[in-house]
Amino acid sequence: MGVVGAGPAGLLLGHLLHREGIDTVILEDRSREHVEARIRAGVIEQGVVDLLVATGAGQRLRAEGLVHHGIELQFAGERHRIALSDLARGRTILIYGQTELVKDLIALRLDDGLPLHFEVEDVSVHDVESERPRIRYRHDGRDQELECDAIAGCDGFHGICRPSIPHGVLSEFSREYPFGWLGILAAVAPSNDELVYAHHERGFALLSLRSPELSRLYVQCRPDEDLAEWPDNRIWEELQIRLGLEGWTLAEGRILEKGVTGMRSYVCEPMRHGRLFLAGDAAHIVPPTGAKGLNLALRDVRVLAEALVDWYRSGTTTGLDGYSETCLRRVWRAEHFSWWMTQMLHRADRDDAFGLKLQLSQLAYITRSEAAATSLAENYVGLELV
Ligand code: APR
Ligand code: PHB
Repeated sequence: MGVVGAGPAGLLLGHLLHREGIDTVILEDRSREHVEARIRAGVIEQGVVDLLVATGAGQRLRAEGLVHHGIELQFAGERHRIALSDLARGRTILIYGQTELVKDLIALRLDDGLPLHFEVEDVSVHDVESERPRIRYRHDGRDQELECDAIAGCDGFHGICRPSIPHGVLSEFSREYPFGWLGILAAVAPSNDELVYAHHERGFALLSLRSPELSRLYVQCRPDEDLAEWPDNRIWEELQIRLGLEGWTLAEGRILEKGVTGMRSYVCEPMRHGRLFLAGDAAHIVPPTGAKGLNLALRDVRVLAEALVDWYRSGTTTGLDGYSETCLRRVWRAEHFSWWMTQMLHRADRDDAFGLKLQLSQLAYITRSEAAATSLAENYVGLELV
């Protein structure tokens, strides 16, 4: 198997297949240092945690991850707890940085002496409609060609696998949002034990964390926001306003990292062409408000690994033939949930007084109706609903 991309999807796929005796070569165009330094998401559904632990990839995650039983929604100057595990059959979430998970998976792979090549150049995929698809790339100054049984395109949204599929094969569905998130990682103990999703007239803010010493915080901004316009004191001021509550203070600390992420929703169908299988961000993107991106990527490769194992063992293609449909059911649930959370919590147009009233009414309904809160909780923890 050839795997393009050493993000969470590509790395976990390599790991799951190795456990079943299937060889993979993973090709990554960035350096190991770059991949291990990228700050990404940090919420893992319990079902995904269980998979990582059961397959031997969860040792550090289990020791260092923080189990959360709830989240908080803040609006109109008040905070309301959503008791996730009470509402969603005992399910919890784990706070553990995607970056840390990627480090764990890279270490496992290299300890096992398995092929994982960083800084490969000019990766391209060929003959995916045939029985011998090939990947061409340059590595260590030499042109290489890898003949594969199948190829997994785990190369993220800007990768080369999806664009290599001939025009007209894929249907694409997408939505752009007129805002982004400015995120910081700060060396300060989180000011709240649980995540706080804050609706505010000036725009959304999120209080999250990585560890007892590290806070992760976001403010809604323009999609093309210039970081130069956001000196540290302006970021803290805005966070103080949007997360502020009577009788509570947001502790500030040294900002270790800051960045702006645009937001979009995107799905391509099917997630397969011939012997090229797309997984994770290569096939779909969600806005980060529902914390689903990482979970979807890991769940795709679980389905793909099981299907590939059946195929290698018994020659049956039933799993591979159903791969796209199986994943897309979950993907579309997460797409809806992420879009719904996003439009409920962000201000797209500050003059839209009607929209603001609708948001506040929906937020109030969630905090007063157990049925509405349960719907949020089930989706957030990733119950097997589809
Ligand atoms: N050749 C080789 N590798 C590539 C290429 C290429 N042409 N293009 C991109 N890559 C690599 C990227 O450098 C990255 O390491 O593919 C990897 C894709 O990883 P991710 O973008 O992390 O995607 P995925 O593994 O699907 O994980 C999805 O990541 O972006 C977050 O929010 C998202 O949490 C979600 C998760
Ligand atoms: C994060 O901690 O980075 C995070 C948490 C929740 C989200 C998105 C990002 O919805």
